Amino acid sequence: MEELKIFSGSSNEPLAEKVCKSLGVSLSDIEITIFSDGEKRVRVVDSVLDQHCVVIQSTASPAAENYMELFFIIDALKRSGAKSVTAVIPYLGYQRQDHIFRDGEAVSLDVVAKALQAAGAAKIVTFDLHTIKIPELFSIPVTHLSALPLFAKKINKEDAVLVSPDMGGIRRIKIISELLGNMPYATVVKNRDLNSGEITATKIEGEVSKTAIIVDDMISSGRTVAIAANLLKDSGAEEVIVMATHAVFSEGASKVLQNCAVSKVIVTDTIEVSQDKQFSKLEVISVADIIAKELQE
Ligand code: R5P
Repeated sequence: MEELKIFSGSSNEPLAEKVCKSLGVSLSDIEITIFSDGEKRVRVVDSVLDQHCVVIQSTASPAAENYMELFFIIDALKRSGAKSVTAVIPYLGYQRQDHIFRDGEAVSLDVVAKALQAAGAAKIVTFDLHTIKIPELFSIPVTHLSALPLFAKKINKEDAVLVSPDMGGIRRIKIISELLGNMPYATVVKNRDLNSGEITATKIEGEVSKTAIIVDDMISSGRTVAIAANLLKDSGAEEVIVMATHAVFSEGASKVLQNCAVSKVIVTDTIEVSQDKQFSKLEVISVADIIAKELQE
C-alpha cells in the first residue's frame, strides 16, 4: 500500500480515529479554528508534499457547514502540494436532492459534486447512497461502499422476513436477501407527499413472518420506520427490528424510535450519534474496517 496521510474534519473524528487504528497509522495534524462570526479557517500542519491524502468527513447536519469545512481541507491539502486527495464522505449530505422532483427545484447534489471537484478532490468514497445513479453526477471516481454485509452478519434468519420500508428500497433488500441465501422479503407500499412531507403506508406486498427486519439506507425523522413497524405488527409480526446505515436522526427522531413498535434499531457510525441522541434500543456498529480495507486497495 502506498503511504497515505489521513486527515479528519470535525464531523466524525471517532470514525476517522477507528479507520487509522485499523490501518495502524496516526491521524495527521490539521488546525480548524472558528472565528467569532462563525467562519472557519483550516490549516494543514503536517507536510503533505507529493503525498496521497485522505480526508474523512461526514456531511450530515449541519450539512452546509460540514461541506464548507471539507472544501477548505481539500483546498488546503492541494495548496500544500498533496499529490491527490480522496474525500471519504461516509454519509453524503444532500443525496436525496439528486434530481428535480418538482418544477423550479435546484439539483443540490449536482452543485455539491461540482464544488468537491473544484476544490480538488480526485476521488470520493461513500456508503449506501440513496440511489445507484448518484455517482453519475460526479466526473471523478465514486466508490460506493455498503454496510449491508455488516447487517447480514447480525441477522438470524429463523422465522424472519426482510422488509423494505418503501418501493425505492427494493434493490437494497434484494442484495441483502442474496447475501443471506435468498432470504424472503416483503415491501411496504409507502407514499410521501412532496409538499407536506406526510407519509402514509397502505399495505405490505409479500408474506410477513414472526420477526420482521426492516432494512433502509437512512433514518431521518423516524416516521418511515414507525409507520412501517405499526403496519407490520398489524399484519402479524411479533417483533420488528430495524437496520439502517445512516443515523441522520433529525430533531425528535430518537424519541420517535424509542417509543415506536420496534424492539431494536441498529445503525452504523457513518454519522456520529451524539450522546443526546442515543436511546436504549439503539446499537451502533462501525464501518471503519470497511473504509480501512478500501483505502488499502
Ligand atoms: C426514503 O426513501 C429513505 O430511504 C428513508 O426511508 C427516509 O429518508 C427515511 O426518512 P424518515 O426517517 O424521515 O421517514
